[in-house]
Amino acid sequence: MKNKIELITNEINDFKIEDVKALENFRIHFLGSKGIIKDLFSDLKAVPNEEKREVGQLLNGLRTVAEEKLAKYKEQLESSSSQENSIDLSRTSDDSNVGSRHPLMLVRSEIIEIFSRIGYTVSEGPEIEDDWHNFSALNFAPEHPARDMQDTFFIEKGENEMALRTHTSSVQVRVMENSTPPIRTISPGRVYRNEAISARAHCFFHQVEGLYIDKNVSFADLKQTLLYFAKELFGEKAQIRMRPSYFPFTEPSAEVDVSCSICNSKGCNVCKYTGWLEILGCGMVDPAVLEASGIDSKVYSGFAFGMGVERITQLKYKVNDLRLYSENDVRFLKQFTAGI
Ligand code: DAH
Repeated sequence: MKNKIELITNEINDFKIEDVKALENFRIHFLGSKGIIKDLFSDLKAVPNEEKREVGQLLNGLRTVAEEKLAKYKEQLESSSSQENSIDLSRTSDDSNVGSRHPLMLVRSEIIEIFSRIGYTVSEGPEIEDDWHNFSALNFAPEHPARDMQDTFFIEKGENEMALRTHTSSVQVRVMENSTPPIRTISPGRVYRNEAISARAHCFFHQVEGLYIDKNVSFADLKQTLLYFAKELFGEKAQIRMRPSYFPFTEPSAEVDVSCSICNSKGCNVCKYTGWLEILGCGMVDPAVLEASGIDSKVYSGFAFGMGVERITQLKYKVNDLRLYSENDVRFLKQFTAGI
């Protein structure tokens, strides 16, 4: 009898209970009304009197081992199944706080993308610039009004004049100084002008400068490049027109308008009922600028263009107040999550 009790104890310990079904089998097998332990208790009658007490105690112990194992696994299985039930697979996911890319950065990336497809690299220059790169090498005469205090934030006046760059054209000078043609590059960056902040003007904004220098570059190349750009940015139907203009660093110079995509050129308040929107300035690089930057103007020619990122973003996303770009109002910024 004692041997039997020992064997059954081992059997209880070795019994694997992995699910509710096994738990029930365990209960029936060991503790059920027709189970092993019940049978053993019946057998107790046959045990000699002097051993009855001891064997009885062993049997009680055996029953406790089985009951404790049953209780332990019952609890475990119940708690894991309640965990399973607490996962609601039909629930929508948490509205996690994904950030958004700034609209100016979305447009900047798009411009870079478009030009990189036709072989333009990206070059950058410093925001704190000397007089040479921002003005002199670009053919600005010493008394040119753009050098005026009213436009430029000067950091240091006099011999080592330093200022916050007023345009990214300064980068074209740096690129020409440091490389040999052919050059095909765009220079995105932040620029500064001393202007009162309003819906239409800001003291800092962003530009993308473009520069193409090689042998035999013509105005037709410029026009075709800009038409390609306008179509990529505003859609296949986009048209451009060029109006003669003046910049010290290009000759001839032009301002470029794109057909108004908001009203399909029918006329609206954004294009002021003209059907056209001004998007950039451009021209053939003035030979004096090529020479100042160390490029032989008898061998090489090229074109340059410069555009305002805020302006293009305004047209693409119909933003009507420049201040929105720098106020960090999440209600504005959140509208651009689609670009992620
Ligand atoms: N730098 C000019 C500006 O800030 C824009 C510009 C016009 C750049 C004509 C050019 C260009 O490269 O050819 O208004």
